[in-house]
Amino acid sequence: MSHAEDNAGTRRDFLYYATAGAGAVATGAAVWPLVNQMNPSADVQALSSIFVDVSAVEVGTQLTVKWLGKPVFIRRRTPEEIEAARATAISELPDAMAENANKPDADAADQNRTLDEAGEWLVMMGVCTHLGCVPLGDGSGDFGGWFCPCHGSHYDTAGRIRKGPAPRNLPVPVAAFDNETTIKLG
Ligand code: FES
Repeated sequence: MSHAEDNAGTRRDFLYYATAGAGAVATGAAVWPLVNQMNPSADVQALSSIFVDVSAVEVGTQLTVKWLGKPVFIRRRTPEEIEAARATAISELPDAMAENANKPDADAADQNRTLDEAGEWLVMMGVCTHLGCVPLGDGSGDFGGWFCPCHGSHYDTAGRIRKGPAPRNLPVPVAAFDNETTIKLG
């Protein structure tokens, strides 16, 4: 056997073993999802709905929780914030829809954005509708609500877009009071 043939043989062996190894890895990867699908319920349920204790949230403050990997703002609004939101005509709003998963076709009137009729509780995804930054809260921006510093989007006290590049109001996720002090998301 020449030196060149010897090298070629070695390379073939190497390729053979590498292919066999890749096959074994692929088989392992394909098996795992099946195993996971057999015992998912507790995990998956815990991920899709969460219960948030809001008993410590004072008027004029906000709680941010993480849900499905994203921040959710839960704000207990002041009477002034409610009044400012309710005094705004829908014709002044760039996005005239409520963007509320609990009221799919409603307009952007403040009453259609909040969790309770009195309008004290506002729950929404803390993700700017422009390119997904997390807006700053606590009265930020020109409209006293939230401000996204990434490209300058201003949201009002109902989380509705008022100025800047964001096209839509901050979305309200599926949410409801489970009891007086607990909000269920999802
Ligand atoms: S991501 Fe918020 S303004 Fe661009």
